Amino acid sequence: MDKKVAVVTGSSRGIGRAIALRLAQEGFDIVVNYARSKEAALQTAKEIEALGQKALIVKANVGKVEKIREMFAQIDEAFGRVDVLINNAASGVLRPAIDLEESHWDWTMDINSKALLFCAQEAVKRMEKVGGGKIVSISSLGSIRYLENYTAVGVSKAAVESLTRYLAVELASKNISVNAVSGGAIDTDALKHFPNRDELLADAVAKTPAGRMVEPKDIVNAVLFLLSEQAEMIRGQTIIVDGGRSLLM
Ligand SMILES: NC(=O)c1ccc[n+]([C@@H]2O[C@H](COP(=O)([O-])OP(=O)(O)OC[C@H]3O[C@@H](n4cnc5c(N)ncnc54)[C@H](OP(=O)(O)O)[C@@H]3O)[C@@H](O)[C@H]2O)c1
Repeated sequence: MDKKVAVVTGSSRGIGRAIALRLAQEGFDIVVNYARSKEAALQTAKEIEALGQKALIVKANVGKVEKIREMFAQIDEAFGRVDVLINNAASGVLRPAIDLEESHWDWTMDINSKALLFCAQEAVKRMEKVGGGKIVSISSLGSIRYLENYTAVGVSKAAVESLTRYLAVELASKNISVNAVSGGAIDTDALKHFPNRDELLADAVAKTPAGRMVEPKDIVNAVLFLLSEQAEMIRGQTIIVDGGRSLLM
């Protein structure tokens, strides 16, 4: 029997990379999607192969629907199936609401929110052929709380969480479960773009009830749970993995 295939958007670096490697450990063949970091994508793929699984590297800007469709066409050729979609890739312009321009809004929404809809549409066509599947998106606390400069990304993540609920209902009859994992601050490359990075890190260390910052492995563990049989009756939810930080906001 063919191995199961997981598509992880934005898996060249950071949390996506950690998810891809863990799913490879669990026995999945992996689609390593990236936009710009070719060397990093190659490295992720190399590590997946060292774990004994196949890796297909696809450069595709998930903010563009035609690139998403091309990516899935490549997946058809290489693997011929899709069982899991992890909607992880994200980007965004960090500015106060009043300074956001139309291009900033569109860029952020296209990559963070629109990508879920159109990746899901393509993934579902393939999941139906194998009798079902699972979709998990990665969100952040900015969807429900105020974070400085985070306006566009926060709103884009709120859309992801809402779309997760709609998809969960509409895809349930196809045996496809849809959920999200929302994380507190995690020290990946993404934080380097924050003008207030040092402040964010200090806050996360000092004000997380669990006593440490969230790490990529914490998000990976929640994703793995949502992909497991134990999570069968969890649908359309966003699980917050923040060590309790948001309880104090
Ligand atoms: N770090 C945090 O504090 C934090 C907290 C909560 C939630 N999250 C969420 O976790 C997810 C991963 O974040 P991260 O911290 O790992 O970010 P990161 O280190 O900046 O990595 C982002 C990944 O997304 C890819 N990507 C960016 N734009 C893309 C596009 N248009 N098309 C395809 N791939 C694209 C990047 O690939 P290239 O380098 O090739 O462009 C990279 O692999 C995001 O959804 C983020 O919102 C992060």
